[in-house]
This record gives sequence, C-alpha cells and structure tokens, in this order.
Amino acid sequence: MHIVFAASECVPWAKTGGLADVVGALPPVLVRMGHRVTTFVPYYRQVARKLPDLPTVIQSLTIPFPSYQRYVRVLDGGIQDGVQVYFFDCPEMFDRESFYATPGGDYLDNWERFSLYSRAVIEASKILGVPDVFHAHDWQAALVPIYLRSIYFFDPVLRKVPCVFTIHNAGYQGWFPADTMPRIMLPWDMFTLEKLEAYDNVNLLKGGLVYADALTTVSRRYAEEIQTPEFGNGLDDIFRRRSGDLFGILNGVDYDQWDPARDAHIAAHYSADNLKGKKECRRDLLHAFGLDHVEDTTAVLGIVSRFATQKGFDLLAGILHELIKDDVVLIALGTGEEYYERLLSELAARYPDKVRVDIRYDNTTAHKIEAGSDIFLMPSHYEPSGLNQMYSLRYGTVPVVRSTGGLEDTIVELHEGQGNGFKFHGYNQWDFLDAIRRAVATFQNKEQWEAMMRRGMEQDFSWNKPAEEYIRVYERVIEGRAWS
Ligand code: ADP
Ligand code: GLC
Repeated sequence: MHIVFAASECVPWAKTGGLADVVGALPPVLVRMGHRVTTFVPYYRQVARKLPDLPTVIQSLTIPFPSYQRYVRVLDGGIQDGVQVYFFDCPEMFDRESFYATPGGDYLDNWERFSLYSRAVIEASKILGVPDVFHAHDWQAALVPIYLRSIYFFDPVLRKVPCVFTIHNAGYQGWFPADTMPRIMLPWDMFTLEKLEAYDNVNLLKGGLVYADALTTVSRRYAEEIQTPEFGNGLDDIFRRRSGDLFGILNGVDYDQWDPARDAHIAAHYSADNLKGKKECRRDLLHAFGLDHVEDTTAVLGIVSRFATQKGFDLLAGILHELIKDDVVLIALGTGEEYYERLLSELAARYPDKVRVDIRYDNTTAHKIEAGSDIFLMPSHYEPSGLNQMYSLRYGTVPVVRSTGGLEDTIVELHEGQGNGFKFHGYNQWDFLDAIRRAVATFQNKEQWEAMMRRGMEQDFSWNKPAEEYIRVYERVIEGRAWS
C-alpha cells in the first residue's frame, strides 16, 4: 500500500523532539515490509541550509486564503532509505529562525503556516500520487483529516482515502481564536463543541480527533491515560468517545542511529558482551564537561530533554540541594522554556563541581550523554512514549523514571534480580529522590549493576513490531472507508 506521512518534523533534517525520530524511522521499516511511503516536510530554514539545491518537482501549488493566495514550490528530497521525501518551499512561512516559536512565544501565524502545510500535503498528493492512506501526526498536521472531510474541499477520489492520526502529545493542541475558521477556509458548521470548538476557540488537535478514521498514540498506557481528565488535557471525553478507534502503539528505536556497538558519535564502541568501551565513553563525557576529577565510584546522572513542564524539571529543582550531598554528579543537555533554561543554569552555577548544564540542541552531545552516564533521569509528569529511556537501556545507562505513559510500559523496577530500571509513582520530589537513591545504592554493587545494565542492553525495542501494528491499523481504515 502507499502511505503519505504528514508531519512537521523528520530526522535528519528537522527535529525538536521524538516526533522527528518517529517520522524518520518508521517509514523505512514500512518500505522494507513492501509498502510505499511518501513524506512531506516544510522546507524550514534549517532544512534549506542542509539541502540548499534540491530539484523542483512542482513549480507552484496555489493555496488559497480568503483574500489572497500563497504559492508552494515542491522540492524533491530524493529517496532516503526507500522513502520518497518532498519539501514544501514557501519562504514567507518557513524561512524563519525556528520551527514553531521564538523564545517569547509561538509564532502568531502558526494557523496559516500549518493550514498551508496541510493543504499542500493534499494538493501535492493529488499530483504526485493519491495514497491508500494518509498518516498525519500531531496538531500541526491535524488539518489533513479535517480538510479531507470538509465540504469546501470535497473531492470524489479523496473521499475514499482514509486518514490515520497519531497523537504524540495531547498537551500541544494548536489553539487559535474563533475567527481562524474562515481564515483557514473552514465552514462555520465545523465550529461546534462536537467538532473543532473548545471554549470559543479553534482547537486543531480536537478537529483531527473527530475527523480521522482511526487514532493512534505512542504507548498503550498513554492511550488509556488520555481517556482520563488528568491526562486528556480537556479532550478526554473525545478520547473516550473514540476509544474503539484508538490504538496505543509503542514507539520503536532506530538502532542504526542508537546503538553503542556502532554509534559514530561516541568515544568507544561497546555491547552487552563487552562493556569495556562504556568506561571510555564515561571518561570522554566527564572530560567534555570539565569533570575529570570525578571518581569511578561516583554515579554520573544524565539528562537529555526538551526543557518543558511536562518533563518534571520542577521535581529536579526541588531535590537538587539534597541530591548533591550524595556521591553523584549531574549532566544535563536541553533547550526549551526560558524559565527552565534559567533555572537549570542557576543550579549549575550554584553547584559547579556537581552539576553541569549545556543549554543547546546538539545531537552528538545527546549520544555522548546516553553512552557516558551511569543513570538516566526522566521524572516526567506525563510521557506519551519517551524514546530516551529506550535509548538508555541499549546504552547500559539505567533509567530512573516516573511511572507514566511509555515510561510505565518500558521500565520495570529492579526486583529479585529482575528489572531494567527504577520507577516512582506519585509526582512528588521525595519519591523521585528516593528512586534515584535506590539506583545509586545499586550502582555501588558492581555485579548487580552490570547484570542490570546487560538486561536492558539485550532488550529489543526495534520498529518491526510497531510497524506491523501500524499496518493493521492502515488496513482497518482502508477497509472501513471502502464501505463508507
Ligand atoms: P519528546 O519528544 O517529548 O521531546 P522523546 O524522549 O520522545 O521526548 O524524544 C526526545 C528526542 O529529542 C530524543 O531523540 C533526544 O535525544 C532528543 N533531544 C531532546 N533534547 C535534545 C537536545 N538538547 N539536543 C539533542 N537532542 C535532544
Ligand atoms: C512526544 C512525546 C514523547 C514521544 C514523542 C514521539 O513529543 O512527548 O513521549 O516519544 O512525541 O512519539
């Protein structure tokens, strides 16, 4: 079957978080299983810098807005790992410093940028090949299922093409004022509480949930959680209403990128059979962060994360003054909300021998932290899937996580010689500190620790099984729409 992927991020060109990893890694596996995949990505400034001279396949797609139109040039990104990639060039919309926001807040015209993007996906598909199924991701592509079913864009061929919509994070919904409806060419009869309206605003994620043929999210546990008021972010009633069409499919890991036995970014290679290289990676990491003085018996705690409320940094800030009394050092890499960037920088300035923070987006450093740390911290308030804990397992870096979403589905607390990590339940700093202390105490027992590292390293979270589950969802919606 032919699947069109619509997503605002894709590795290796455009990434702020795990969405990009998923959109880069799942399609090649689908191709290996005999399917055809086409992916459309905005031609952001960051992409243009990496790929400046791409051939044009469509000179100009006209995307109408009420009193003006915009033009999109479709560029051929070539076939990458069997996947056909196209980019949408529209400099007024995408030639900007970042993807979605400035440090001061979201771009105010995101409604226009992602309306244009979603319509370009549909229009380009009509020309380059109508797929058997569209697969749209997160609020930025939620307009794909919405436009497909909007009467203004009615198309007899596309009417028969189903759309699967994946929610990577229900915390980001794409809220815009009510008068966005006509601006993005949607009829007012879609502006009801059953459809796109939420508190007199337009909620694009909500529209995607209503109009897609099936919904998926990125772990079994999160699929259950979002049906509750605590995690549904106001959309739990829709998730419950659509629970028959909602599937939790855990993300996979691209082991071509994330495997210490062949990782090009790290100081030495290692595997479960030969852990020697990990020591070298640890030394290299400590050196890079100016922590050469750290003894072998000190536990190195690592963090790689978007600095967002979701990720539990308030808990970390709350325990740090206590934690640094223990035999540990902390190395954190991340960027994000200004408040957390400042908070973490202040903590690093206060405890320079114990805490190092790198406020940057840097893939190589992310790999070095995965490889060189002993323990990886993910105290997330919620975590739809989480990839870093699965990367950590493969790198023999034992995760300490809060039991939510994909963290709950992948991490098993150490118990009677079994388990791959440490978990805490209540979202409070003392349970977090206690879990870290259990990890650090186990770290002191070399034999027990190495056995635990190996158990994690030998686990297989590759994409094969999730890809099969996606194919079953595609088949189901294709059949469903054929009968509609
Ligand atoms: P989320 O998508 O919520 O940010 P995930 O755990 O699914 O969380 O994925 C995060 C991805 O982004 C991982 O691949 C991680 O290595 C990467 N990442 C996050 N912050 C940075 C950073 N500052 N530098 C490099 N990579 C980062
Ligand atoms: C989101 C989630 C994260 C997930 C990623 C990819 O950003 O926060 O848990 O792994 O999407 O699905």
